Amino acid sequence: MKRSGWTRRESLAGLAAGGALAGAITSSCGKQSPESKAEARVEAGPPAGHERRIAWWRQARFGMFIHWGLYSVLGRHEWVMENEGIPIPEYEQLAGQFKPKPHAARDWARLAKQAGMKYMVMTSKHHEGFANFSSKLTDYCAPKKGPGRDLAAEFVEAARGEGLRCGFYYSLMDWHHPDGALCATDEQARRRFVDYIHGQIRELLTNYGKIDILWYDVPWPLDAAGWESEKMNNMVFQLQPDIIVNNRNKLPGDFSTPEQRIVAEADKDWESCMTMNDSWGYQKADDNWKTPKTIVRNLITCARGGGNYLLNIGPKPDGSIPEESVRILTSVGKWVDQNQSTIFGAERCNVARSSYCNFSRKGNTLFIHVYDWPGDTVAIGGLKTRVKSARLLVSGREVKVEQDELRARFTGLPAAAPDSLATVIAAECDSEPAQDMVEIVRKGRKRYKA
Ligand code: GLC
Repeated sequence: MKRSGWTRRESLAGLAAGGALAGAITSSCGKQSPESKAEARVEAGPPAGHERRIAWWRQARFGMFIHWGLYSVLGRHEWVMENEGIPIPEYEQLAGQFKPKPHAARDWARLAKQAGMKYMVMTSKHHEGFANFSSKLTDYCAPKKGPGRDLAAEFVEAARGEGLRCGFYYSLMDWHHPDGALCATDEQARRRFVDYIHGQIRELLTNYGKIDILWYDVPWPLDAAGWESEKMNNMVFQLQPDIIVNNRNKLPGDFSTPEQRIVAEADKDWESCMTMNDSWGYQKADDNWKTPKTIVRNLITCARGGGNYLLNIGPKPDGSIPEESVRILTSVGKWVDQNQSTIFGAERCNVARSSYCNFSRKGNTLFIHVYDWPGDTVAIGGLKTRVKSARLLVSGREVKVEQDELRARFTGLPAAAPDSLATVIAAECDSEPAQDMVEIVRKGRKRYKA
């Protein structure tokens, strides 16, 4: 692939000047000299100021993702343009039909708040190429088409109004821009397209006040050198010194983004993004909804791994939220409200094994989230730490603990589950709770002759 690229010298100059460089990219020709390998080790970490910028997000743990665009008009998933092979002139017609009610985002923000979410991330432009924000670089944007208004501005105002942090999702891949695919094989096209993309990101981070997150998506068809991703991140941090960025511009960024799955990545900040049914954008026929219980369990699993859960809604074209999403989030919100101390600010938790409980941790407190209530006794095998005392979190009722080297047993519990989503037992331990099933239980359990 021929391109002028972002040379190593330029990237070092950027480091000296900007001081806020993101992680490693190889030089534009892809070769690495021995000294650039050493440098790559340094650059492979998150961008400068990471600890400071990401502190709030580590406390937040739960956010709302919003996929909203022209695809919402069709209601057949946000990939409808591509997957149905819709010609661009035909798809463009949707821009005139997209006429959302004013300030729909206020309902999203209210629901997010009620669900216990601490931040919101909205698609400012998805792969279809239509900008929900005001852009001087294209007419294919909300203020100049059907909506006749700046939907990004309404979103930011709504999130701030509920005291929530807010971020923009922005797709690098663009199915509409004339250079969106050509850029891979034609240097002039790449130059035009990269200028356009950097220009739109500049608009997003200049015109809406403080933005907390920039959530890049799909870097097809270029690599980090082709996107000039270091330069991109440098610009972002220059415009918004407190912002955090994800890893989807092919640099490590401040956090990684496992999608539709929960993977606690070691030594990294991570956020699992997930749909409530099987579509990100509005899909009117998709009724494969997760239950509130599944969502709560997922949230706990994220908290257990020291990560965040970014849960999606796909509003209808008028901006209203699908009824099922409202129902699910309302019920999740009641649980989060009562059990928030187990989620917000939770730290990585080594205790994980049970067939009917999930876990989270803060300091020496182990939160045992019982989702399939066994009745009188809950038992956890292989706990390495002594449990000093325990109580049911919501009622405060004390729970008796019997512990030997194999297991801790919490006894005298109510016959029926106090909370059908998950009932939390808070166990105070004498050190950071840890579990070792292999040494303590499988190998350590005394065996007798047959
Ligand atoms: C994928 C999909 C996209 C969705 C995103 C969310 O990359 O292409 O439709 O926006 O994931 O993580």
